[in-house]
Amino acid sequence: MKPYIHLPTRNTESRVFASETLTGGSRFVRACLRQPVDCTPVWFLRQAGRYMPEYQAVRREHSLVEICKSPALAAEVTITAAEKLDVDAAIIFADLLLPLEPMGLEFTFQAGEGPVVHRPLRSATDIAALRTDRTADLGYVAQAIERVVAHFGASKGMIGFCGAPFTLASYMIEGGGSRNYIATKKLMYSDPAAWQMLMEKLVTVLTAFAQQQVEAGADVIQIFDSWVGALSVTDYREYVLPTTKMLVQQVQALGVPVIYFGVDTAMLLPAMRETGADVIGLDWRTPLDAGWRALGNGCAVQGNLDPITLFAPETVLRKRVEEVLRQANGRAGHIFNVGHGIVPETPVENVQRVVRWVREISAEMASQGSQK
Ligand code: CP3
Repeated sequence: MKPYIHLPTRNTESRVFASETLTGGSRFVRACLRQPVDCTPVWFLRQAGRYMPEYQAVRREHSLVEICKSPALAAEVTITAAEKLDVDAAIIFADLLLPLEPMGLEFTFQAGEGPVVHRPLRSATDIAALRTDRTADLGYVAQAIERVVAHFGASKGMIGFCGAPFTLASYMIEGGGSRNYIATKKLMYSDPAAWQMLMEKLVTVLTAFAQQQVEAGADVIQIFDSWVGALSVTDYREYVLPTTKMLVQQVQALGVPVIYFGVDTAMLLPAMRETGADVIGLDWRTPLDAGWRALGNGCAVQGNLDPITLFAPETVLRKRVEEVLRQANGRAGHIFNVGHGIVPETPVENVQRVVRWVREISAEMASQGSQK
């Protein structure tokens, strides 16, 4: 196993993860490294967001970007959600698109439409003009992480995150969300040198951004490749895997495990595994056991509840939670999560129930396993 070092710059003195009594933080980090735990760690993609009244209250007073850029507000939103849900890890409140601004692309979030990039990339000249030397401008994310870490200590894991090169490139080229990714794929196929330049510039910026987050105290970095499922396996291998692997390895070299997550990835899992990420995040369509089989035994797995089952009656929801845990079968290296983000309107009390059930059921399974 890789010797995960705690960097001297990191504020980890007070957060030494002792092995006898597991804290949420150590339980989460140990599972990322496939070490045994007392019960399955749990957190949720998009655990802070519009389904939470506390978030809505902050959001009434501030725009999304204002919250992201204010370390005090971003920390508050992160802490409130993680405390209210009693999860094992907090993910810093930020957004995938933030690194676009220091690279020279302005964007806004438009109500109901998601992000809109004002002048999307169209040519090699546009890509050549992108800046990679202003990542320091994103320091507000690291400052927010410092506040969350100071609040939670070792009691919860701290997750920093960034977008993956393909998913960010798709926003930069399409100018927003997309159905068929035509402009992105057109550029990828017709000007591979420009595409490679874009991917490499993104790796440079994202590595520096991840480094700031790790130095501020992030225990783990999650790389979101949300839209990678738009690619065939052949195109993923040819145009995306090499640079994504470079990013994963450079982040791991900072001394933290990496979680690599994408949506609609059933066919891509073996290739995604080749990035060397410590944990692969499954999307909700892939059964946990089938996903793990496709990945082999060399990595940890995160998932895999359909986030929409959080709207189901209690009995159905509990059955689904049990099914995921049964499929994990007590194997070291399972992190319970939803297989894509929690959506607005989700009943908060159902999310809280899932946390309680994951602890109860997995602890019971672990004690039965140890009595065998
Ligand atoms: O606790 C958390 O996980 C919240 C922090 C967070 C946000 N965005 C805040 C946010 C995280 C981890 C993200 C990542 C993100 N951003 C992704 C990857 C995750 C995924 O779901 O695949 C993506 C694709 C984006 C880009 C983005 N940001 C879109 C497409 C949208 C609009 C979608 C929508 O539901 O309206 C956003 C806006 C956004 N980012 C919101 C939040 C809480 C909701 C909008 C708001 O508060 O106004």
